[in-house]
Amino acid sequence: MQGELGQKSHRAVSDAALDRLLPPETQLPSELHAAMRYACLSPGKRLRPAFVLGSCEAVGCDVSRAHDAAAAVEMVHCFSLIHDDLPALDDDDLRRGIPTVHKAFGEAVAILAGDALFALAFETVARYEPATLARDLVLELTRATGSEGLVAGEALDILVEGRPVDLDTVRWIHERKTGALIAASCAMGGLIGNASPPTVDALRSFGMAIGLAFQVQDDILNETSTPEQLGKAAGSDRARGKATYPGLFGLERARDFATELHQRALAILDEIGHCASLRGLARESVVRSA
Ligand code: FPP
Ligand code: MG
Repeated sequence: MQGELGQKSHRAVSDAALDRLLPPETQLPSELHAAMRYACLSPGKRLRPAFVLGSCEAVGCDVSRAHDAAAAVEMVHCFSLIHDDLPALDDDDLRRGIPTVHKAFGEAVAILAGDALFALAFETVARYEPATLARDLVLELTRATGSEGLVAGEALDILVEGRPVDLDTVRWIHERKTGALIAASCAMGGLIGNASPPTVDALRSFGMAIGLAFQVQDDILNETSTPEQLGKAAGSDRARGKATYPGLFGLERARDFATELHQRALAILDEIGHCASLRGLARESVVRSA
């Protein structure tokens, strides 16, 4: 990240926290814990944890306070990817350049590893002090993930497969499926930094705009890249009749929309002030080839 989080990359910081918080493989049942570690420590971008750390830094807080929350949002994200890849959902074999968790460990262990990651994420944020902060973090994560957040977005993503959709529906799906957790990650960094409610709201709005831009870029890359470049399936959205911006508008208008969302997100940062890391992350989310 082109930011100010110090010498260590956001990925190294997040992975150190994940390594510390995830149960060791030696702990029974070792296959379950191996699957949890495989999912979380595989070579991903760690963008969501970086948004927690960057937001905490933006409000002037010591980012080490945010390490555990950063790991918690990555646990939720990895849980959602394990389940997203299952045969009953997107049925994908490749993720982050390696076999998906159900391919490597079997479906039963994959489902249970996801369940355990979700529980561990909430335990991790519930341990924050003071208790009022822990409550706010739990609420933020609950709202982002439940039947008004990720689950709702994923449900509609699956339910409208192969059916004609309008722009409002695609946006509704993407705001929940992808925007909600990135928005919550930014808000959580602000909460840990004891930011004022308007600043936390601004960080959440920034996260939603950039989360949406991230998903638009993801859909563009699904059409324009190869599995080797992406480390996951390519061309699959169109084959499955997924609701996407390029599917609805074509690549050029989808690119324009991603740029517009990026600009909107940066304008929100102007309200907050010192946000070098967040600006770098916003760019990394949209201007990327994998
Ligand atoms: C990837 O999208 C999937 C998501 C962003 C979210 C998936 C959400 C769930 C499975 C619900 C999880 C449940 C809770 C309680 C959090 P994609 O399929 O468009 O992208 P991909 O090409 O990377 O698979
Ligand atoms: Mg998928």
